[in-house]
Parts: sequence; structure tokens; C-alpha cells
Amino acid sequence: MKIKKIEAKETYPVRNEVLRKGKPIETCYFKGDENLDTSHFGLYLENSLIGIISIFKERNPLFSEEPQFQIRGMAVLDNYQGKGYGALLVKAAEDYCLDLNTELIWFNARESAIPFYKKLNYTIIGDSFEIPDVGIHFVMYKKIQKK
Ligand SMILES: CC(C)(COP(=O)(O)OP(=O)(O)OC[C@H]1O[C@@H](n2cnc3c(N)ncnc32)[C@H](O)[C@@H]1OP(=O)(O)O)[C@@H](O)C(=O)NCCC(=O)NCCS
Repeated sequence: MKIKKIEAKETYPVRNEVLRKGKPIETCYFKGDENLDTSHFGLYLENSLIGIISIFKERNPLFSEEPQFQIRGMAVLDNYQGKGYGALLVKAAEDYCLDLNTELIWFNARESAIPFYKKLNYTIIGDSFEIPDVGIHFVMYKKIQKK
């Protein structure tokens, strides 16, 4: 198992298969994917990419911490879910953010993924909201600090 930085375009097939099933590949391109302060990580088993996570330098007006980063495009291929790989990807993202002296990580969590994020000590803030074509989401966050 290896987690390493990857290019935005390498995330698109996995986003498509897990997060935008049956939808055109263009729906997998996120605004800011190519920004210099955006990073993408992939989890490889042998030479196969089976999980991804992206980190965007994006402020949410709900939080005053600076800098803060947003997790997006968190996905593990169906056959590999429930084996701990998602948690490893979030940990890699947190380590990366800590190196940048980030104080807070936030994201829009799908309702179905909330138990996963709660296990990793993320907290819901505010009410649910609908992302068109994707479903019900909640904002979740965690304050992080270098030990
Ligand atoms: C959500 C997702 C990224 C989690 O990755 P994963 O590799 O399946 O999760 P892990 O195996 O690392 O799970 C870590 C812990 O969370 C728990 N968990 C994961 N998904 C869960 C769920 N839906 N409900 C309850 N618990 C869950 C696991 O049981 C595990 O608990 P443990 O530490 O006690 O064993 C993955 O299932 C996925 O890609 N889902 C579809 C896409 C998606 O929803 N992405 C998030 C968008 S916001």
C-alpha cells in the first residue's frame, strides 16, 4: 500500500466510478482542481489506484481559522471499501495540512459518509443542504494542531 501525490486528471476515473456513477466525465472536474494550492493524493495497491482524496485551500465563512482547507473528492473503489483505506487517505490529508500549519479542515459530507467521518472525529455544523444531482450533505469540520 502506498499513498502518493497524483495529478488532478488521475482522480477523474475514480471520481467517476464512485462519486459520479454513470455521469459524464466532465461532472468529475472540480473548479480549482488545477490550482497550485490544490493537492490530490492517491492510494495504490500494487500499481492500481483504488482510492483518492483532494485538498483545496478554500475558506468557509463558518470558520475563522486560517489557513483552512477543504477536503473534496474522497472516494474508495466499491470493492475496497470498509478495509481502512479511506481512513488512511484522510490521515494523509491531515498530515499534509498540518505541514502547512493548517488549523481547520472542513468539507461537505454526503449523508451516507457521516458515520465514517464521525469515527475520524469530524463534527457536523449547521443544517443539511442539497447538492443538486448528488444529494443531502452536511458541513463537517475538525480543528487540527501539530503536536
Ligand atoms: C466513505 C468512504 C470514503 C469510506 O472509505 P472506506 O475505505 O470505506 O472506510 P474505512 O474502511 O477506512 O472506514 C473507517 C471506519 O469508518 C467506518 N465506516 C466507513 N464507512 C461507514 C459507513 N458508511 N457507516 C458506518 N461506518 C462506516 C468503518 O467501519 C471503519 O470503522 P472502524 O475503524 O471501527 O473499523 C468510502 O466508503 C466511499 O468511497 N464511499 C462512497 C463515496 C463517498 O461517500 N465519499 C465521501 C463523499 S463526502
